[in-house]
Amino acid sequence: MLDSPRITRAVHFRRPRPPSTGIPMDKLKIRGGARLRGEVAVSGAKNAALPILAASLLTADEFIVDNVPQLQDVATTLKLLRQMGVAAERDGGTVRLKADDLSNTEAPYEMVKTMRASILVLGPLVARFGTARVSLPGGCAIGARPVDQHIKGLELLGARIRIEGGFVVAEAKRLKGTRIVTDMVTVTGTENLMMAAALAEGETIIENAAREPEVVDLADALNAMGARISGAGTASIAVQGVERLHGTRHRVMPDRIETGTFLTAVAAAGGEAVLRGAAPHTLDAVLDKLKEAGADLRAEGDLLSIRMDRRPRAVSLRTAPYPAFPTDMQAQFMALDCVADGVARITETIFENRFMHVLELQRLGANIAIEGNTAVVHGVDRLAGAPVMATDLRASACLVVAALAADGETLVDRIYHLDRGYEKMESKLAALGAQVERVK
Ligand code: EPZ
Repeated sequence: MLDSPRITRAVHFRRPRPPSTGIPMDKLKIRGGARLRGEVAVSGAKNAALPILAASLLTADEFIVDNVPQLQDVATTLKLLRQMGVAAERDGGTVRLKADDLSNTEAPYEMVKTMRASILVLGPLVARFGTARVSLPGGCAIGARPVDQHIKGLELLGARIRIEGGFVVAEAKRLKGTRIVTDMVTVTGTENLMMAAALAEGETIIENAAREPEVVDLADALNAMGARISGAGTASIAVQGVERLHGTRHRVMPDRIETGTFLTAVAAAGGEAVLRGAAPHTLDAVLDKLKEAGADLRAEGDLLSIRMDRRPRAVSLRTAPYPAFPTDMQAQFMALDCVADGVARITETIFENRFMHVLELQRLGANIAIEGNTAVVHGVDRLAGAPVMATDLRASACLVVAALAADGETLVDRIYHLDRGYEKMESKLAALGAQVERVK
């Protein structure tokens, strides 16, 4: 049972079992309490790179992608594409792909279960090859995360889809453009349908579309391949289908969640930092909340600088689809509110189980009560380091932020979650003067 009297009701979170797949169980040892100071280069966006790499399936020509981050999820995507027969060569931040003839159009369960974004091959496979067999992703730590909207949209485009043995099996002669209204805003759902529509016959309109910058980056890459997409970044995307797409070279946008994570770490630990290669206009909601917490922020081109010389003020927030505050920054911001002056209410509206970091933050001395989908955070003067466990990608980032603000030593376990979405995290933190060590 929970050791904190402060929980207003018994909260039963499923603690994920350790992976049996031999994933390294590295830990991060962090000695916190010191101000941060230095410079960090922002990497390419994970959530733009994954759909853009999947878009390689839409053409037989060579497709070159630059600024691809070195992440576990990118490695998984390349492995998935290669096992289909896509030629994929990585050289630093550049990946060269060629999907001229595939040996199969399958996404097997053992890959999909480690990365839900594998579903992003479904649309391109059906659109270009007329057939696909993609494992259903199953749930994940933060929620059920079904893919019913992806399936609904593809059926509206004319694909015949059945669920067979845990797989989505899709067949289509040639997809036919139509109007699609998704039941809720879905980022990868919008991306899958946009990629499928690019090669459909006629016009497709996607209403209630996700407006995330990563959707826009994908649309830019597709248009560079000869697609005819307009309205990306708005809730209504129009796609004029074309016969074929050609190769191109595209540079992935900067990662706005990595940017927000490092800014929040400086705001929580205190200090100053410059982030290079950022896209400040893609995280306005996060910058506004950091300013409200008392951070001094300046944006000049692709430079974002932050200075925090005071204890943060408590800031409440409510996650929602872009351009509102991103759910992928909710956990990191909660770590900031844990050491802030005042009481903050953090409401999560996107996923049904994205508070697992609360239990771990309480081990560091945080004072948090959960009321439904709202966490009430009473800021404390200081957190105290302790052994904690990462449960999902952004929860692990949250624990790193909290550990940097905490006095003493924190050992963050299961940081394979962190390695999925953050490139060279410990060396970037070390560049900010943090005392961080990876322990095998
Ligand atoms: C994308 O996931 C991101 N991943 C997530 O980032 C992010 O948290 C999420 O969007 C929300 O912004 C990638 O882009 C690879 P959704 P996605 O479809 O597309 C429900 C990270 O940390 N839904 O926008 O899977 C769903 O359950 C990851 O980098 C359906 O019910 O999220 C959720 O409640 C975590 N049926 C809501 O919609 C569907 O068919 C939004 O999900 C699709 C979604």
